[in-house]
Amino acid sequence: MNVLLIGSGGREHALAWKLAQSPRLTKLYAAPGNPGISEHAELVPLDAADHRAVIDFCRRHAIGLAVIGPEAPLVDGLADNLRAMGIPTFGPNKFPAQLEGSKGFTKDLCARHDIPTARYARATDRLAAETALEEFSLPVVIKADGLAAGKGVIIAETAEDANAGLDAMFAGGFGAAGESVVVEEYMEGEEVSFFALVDGETVLPFGSAQDHKRVGDGDTGPNTGGMGAYSPARIFTPALEEQVLAEIVRPTVHALAEMGHPFSGILYAGLMLTEAGPRLVEYNVRFGDPECQALMLRLDSDLLDLMLACAKGELAEAAAPRFSGDAALVVVMAAKGYPGTPKKDGAIAGLEQKGATIFQAGTARKGGKLVADGGRVLGVAARGKDVAAAQRAAYRAVDGIHFPSGFCRRDIGWREIARLRADARGRKG
Ligand code: AMP
Ligand code: GLY
Repeated sequence: MNVLLIGSGGREHALAWKLAQSPRLTKLYAAPGNPGISEHAELVPLDAADHRAVIDFCRRHAIGLAVIGPEAPLVDGLADNLRAMGIPTFGPNKFPAQLEGSKGFTKDLCARHDIPTARYARATDRLAAETALEEFSLPVVIKADGLAAGKGVIIAETAEDANAGLDAMFAGGFGAAGESVVVEEYMEGEEVSFFALVDGETVLPFGSAQDHKRVGDGDTGPNTGGMGAYSPARIFTPALEEQVLAEIVRPTVHALAEMGHPFSGILYAGLMLTEAGPRLVEYNVRFGDPECQALMLRLDSDLLDLMLACAKGELAEAAAPRFSGDAALVVVMAAKGYPGTPKKDGAIAGLEQKGATIFQAGTARKGGKLVADGGRVLGVAARGKDVAAAQRAAYRAVDGIHFPSGFCRRDIGWREIARLRADARGRKG
């Protein structure tokens, strides 16, 4: 079967790497892809915003499955148009993609179906937002309603910060995403990411992970798209998974199906494990990046089989995804300056490292050489019997890579490693 993969990041490199292992794959195309993805796929210069061009390509190349990696084309309705042409597609249509595309849409859906999440108010002008703020204690969370590339959330510790946040939102600092805002209660707890394949009705759990959103060691500095991740998140126990499926994921999936807009693809629930139980922070309608890189390293099942079953609405008959008992951990190497303006064109070498799989995100080939071309540049991923072993293997590879204009966090996996140490102390004592 021929497959078209849309996207160009570390997530898509990991998906391409895994799809390429499927015995059912004839030929993989990636649009636009990146130099790492080109090791597994033929790159095609398609613009995902040009739906007509994507459809024409699929027809000319007998594409049996289109996989849409990032959120923007999903929110833009690319999946609807591909499906309308009879092309099996992995990724939700425009309406259900609002779970990520509009925070207010998700909050309203949660409110209607008693899905546990932070208390909230919506506002579309500055005065209404200020009035809403009065109903919340500090710290308070202010979110741009629309897609803001991971930058649309302000956690305000003081009233001044909250007002400055509203100024930024309504002054157009977040573009159209900030014309409508959600003000919500701050939730205390540990965050985990939970993934599930959904084909409209059937929900198949697809593993857990923990991300590291802040740029600096010890979870300091500004938020990023994610500086590293590991899977599984042992804190997300089978009992918690069952509770989240029952109270959060299945009610959401049923609600969308009842509205006549079933969700098909991967649903990513960002959760806060609060003292009062798990609560939804947000949904994403695609794989997390870099979480996807850790998940793909652990996945034993054929990804193409699973994605196809999902696209065709056949998950009820599909075998549950199988994952290795190993842990996987990924360290993101970013270009200096990220998440501000990243340094471009820095040289990269030494990507052949034993014991690790290196996924490329923001890279380009210039004059025959590999260079940095984006904020997050590489994902250095490794497996191990536990997160501590996976971390050692990943950093060994990081230290062998030549990327002088890059940097990374040195503490990816710290929460889990602290728990492993506490367990070991418990066994001794
Ligand atoms: P997002 O950009 O939507 O991924 O949100 C970024 C981060 O903001 C989340 O991963 C959380 O760490 C934090 N966050 C969002 N909403 C809340 C909330 N209601 N309470 C506490 N933290 C939150
Ligand atoms: N790593 C967080 C995300 O993909 O949204």
